[in-house]
Amino acid sequence: MKNILVTGGTGFIGSHTCISLLESGNNITIVDSFMNSNKSVIEGIKKVLKLSNNLDENKIHLYLGDIRNTSFLQDVFLDSKNNKKPIDGVIHFAGLKAVGESMVNPIIYWDVNVNGSISLLKVMEANNCKTILFSSSATVYGDSKNIPFKESALINPFNTYGHTKATVENILKNIYDSNSSGWKIGCLRYFNPIGAHPSGFIGESPNGKPENIFPYICQVASGFRDKLYVFGNDWPTADGTCYRDYIHVVDLAEVHKITLNYLFNKENENLILNVGKGKPSSVLELIKTFERVNNININYEFSDRRVGDIPISYADTAKMFSLLKWKPSRSLEDMCRDGWAWQKNIS
Ligand code: NAD
Ligand code: WQD
Repeated sequence: MKNILVTGGTGFIGSHTCISLLESGNNITIVDSFMNSNKSVIEGIKKVLKLSNNLDENKIHLYLGDIRNTSFLQDVFLDSKNNKKPIDGVIHFAGLKAVGESMVNPIIYWDVNVNGSISLLKVMEANNCKTILFSSSATVYGDSKNIPFKESALINPFNTYGHTKATVENILKNIYDSNSSGWKIGCLRYFNPIGAHPSGFIGESPNGKPENIFPYICQVASGFRDKLYVFGNDWPTADGTCYRDYIHVVDLAEVHKITLNYLFNKENENLILNVGKGKPSSVLELIKTFERVNNININYEFSDRRVGDIPISYADTAKMFSLLKWKPSRSLEDMCRDGWAWQKNIS
């Protein structure tokens, strides 16, 4: 049993990962500023654990604060040590993730995503905690030409958000390459995580108008928004809409637990892994699947292409399969059904 610090642990992917860690008997120490989540997520996490008889309140610790505040983070590490549960490793989700917003407000993206990560790494080093799993993104590949993307593909982000992710990956590589021994680093490049926990107790709650397609579909389905605009039907694909690699958030949570255990068993590591299903689906296929499994119509209309989109993005998952001996098992149907269960719960 380990004590894992989960930054951004009340966010979309963080909350699902906390459940996965707790279900395996770990302690979790969440640090979150609630800038894109709130305390009710903790209640949701507890409800899920109660369902599977895994709830032990003593294993969940929550600290409200900002990762850029280094002395606050130092207090979290100290507190954990004093409570005889020193932090063994970190999963670092906390950050800002909206591509469009990152182009409008670059300073805040560099500050939170990069300075926030540096602040965390300083405190980890000071406390001799050297195992970290970092939330990177397929966006670091930009419009790199070789599809499916291999981890070795050119890193060529074309938005500020992507640059911040690539920069943190570089910082982590520098740390690994330096003489400081014992660092065990994993950068997971997620493709398109969607869905929710099947209980409907936790899921994604974007602030304002969603940039991503799945929460937008859910909000149209619930009647909260009138219509989905499909960005382009003239792409060079079979049905003219873009292809993406959707992965169920519960599968994504599972792979964090597995990768973290993989890192704990290494002496030194700097691992870069794509995390997707390796199976692209078109925007129309996603909409049609959502309609079919939930027996609901989605009002949509084709509109212009969105600036910065690429027609096809999906992962080469060979490295993940061979290294972790693990494959995501949940289908596009599962993603659509579970995501809708959550949306109905909050509508
Ligand atoms: P999210 O916004 O739901 O979760 C992020 C959490 O971090 C939120 O709870 C937020 O309150 C917290 N946070 C933000 N800034 C903070 C700060 N300065 N200090 C402390 N807490 C802070 O996002 P998510 O979808 O769960 O994404 C988690 C991570 O995965 C992010 O780093 C994101 O860039 C990355 N990622 C997400 C996706 C995706 O499609 N969701 C894809 C690739 C990578
Ligand atoms: C998917 C498809 C859109 C909204 C982004 C980030 C990436 C990662 C995941 C964080 C595209 C189309 C969308 C809408 C639409 N996040 N679409 N109507 O762009 O693949 O990736 O989120 O790291 O880094 O770049 O995901 O969900 O925005 O779009 O037609 O209202 O849906 O054009 O083809 P994307 P998305």
